[in-house]
Amino acid sequence: MKRYFLLIFIVLFIVSCSLIKHNSPSLIVRPTSTSSLKFLALKSGIEIGAAVALQPLREDETYREVLAREFNTLIPENAMKFDAIHPERYQYKFKGADEIVDFAEKNNMKVFGHTLLWHIALPKWLKEGDFTRNELMGILRDHIYTVVGRYKGKIVAWDAVNEAIARDGSLLDSIWLRKIGPEYLDLVFQWAHEADPNARLFFNEFSAEGLSSKSDGLYAIVSSMVQRGIPITGIGLQMHKSLGNPPNVQQVAKNIKRFADLGLEVQITEMDVKTGDGKGSLSQKMDQQAKMYGDILHICLSFSNCKTFMLWGFTDRYSWINSITGTQDGPLIFDISYQPKKSYDALASVLNNSK
Ligand code: XIL
Repeated sequence: MKRYFLLIFIVLFIVSCSLIKHNSPSLIVRPTSTSSLKFLALKSGIEIGAAVALQPLREDETYREVLAREFNTLIPENAMKFDAIHPERYQYKFKGADEIVDFAEKNNMKVFGHTLLWHIALPKWLKEGDFTRNELMGILRDHIYTVVGRYKGKIVAWDAVNEAIARDGSLLDSIWLRKIGPEYLDLVFQWAHEADPNARLFFNEFSAEGLSSKSDGLYAIVSSMVQRGIPITGIGLQMHKSLGNPPNVQQVAKNIKRFADLGLEVQITEMDVKTGDGKGSLSQKMDQQAKMYGDILHICLSFSNCKTFMLWGFTDRYSWINSITGTQDGPLIFDISYQPKKSYDALASVLNNSK
C-alpha cells in the first residue's frame, strides 16, 4: 500500500513539474539554435543584426543569450558615437565599444560601426570649440583614423555618414557643413577608406526608404560620389516606422533598384515599428507590425544588393522608443520577457522561404 502511494506521489510530482514548465514564461525559450533567425539566415547568407546597448549587455544574461542565439551581426547603439568614444579633444574612451566588439568576437558575430559623423551626440568640447576650418578638418580626420584604425579588420562596415540630408533633399545644417562645407561628405569616406580599405562604408538616412525629395537628394549626392570615385559602398535605410506611418513597399522596391543600378549596396539598418498610433486590438496591431517587418525583409531579400537587415534593438524591454514616447510601446520582435512576437515569426518565415 505504502509503495502504491509513493508511486502516485511520484507520478503527480512529474506531471505538475511539466505543467509549471509550460506555464512559466521564463522557462519557455521557444526558438532553438536550429530555428533561430541566424540559423534561418544561412540560406540567403544575409547579415541579420541588432543594435546593442551596453547596460543590458553588461547586466542582463538573457539579453546576451538571445542576442547571441538569434543574430549573426551587431551594431553598437551608442557606444561608438562621437561623444561616447571621443569625450575630450585629446582623449578617446574605447572601453564600452571594446566590450561590444569582444562580445561579437566570442560569439562569432560580425560588427558594424555606428557612426563616424553625425550632427547629434557630439561632445561639448567640439560643439562649443571655436575651431577654424582647418582645425575642424584635422579633428575629424584624427577621429576617423583613430576609431576606424583601432577596429581595422574587426569592424566590417561603418555608417560613415549618418543623417546628413534634410527633408527637402538639401544638405542638413550642421557644424560640419557650416565650418567645412559640403566636401566634408567626401572627406569622411576618403579618410575612413584610408584607415581601413576593407571596411564597407555607408551613408545612413532615416525617412529615405520611399520615393521623396529626401531620397532624391540622397540619390543625387551618392550618384555624384560614385561618378567621382569616392569610396562609398552603399546606403543605409534606417526604417524607423510606425503602424500609422507604414512604408510604401512598391516605392521602397523602386528606391532600392535605383541605388542598385548605381552599383551600390542598400541595407536596412535600424528597423523598428512603433505601435502607439495604430488602430485595432492589440492582436491586430501585432499582426500589422509583423506584416511590416516581413514585407521589408522580403523586399530586401529580393534584391541581390541588399545583404543586411538590422533592427534597432531586439527586445521591447530596452527599446529607445520607450524613452522617446514615455510609454512602453512594443516596437521590436521580442516582448519585454524575451518572448518572440508575431513579428519574429514573420521574419523567420521570410528567411525560411528565401532562396
Ligand atoms: C538613438 C539611440 O537609440 C538612443 O539610445 C539615443 O539616446 C539617441 O540615439 N537614428 C540613429 C541612431 O542613427 O543613432 C539613433 O539612436 C536613433 C535614430
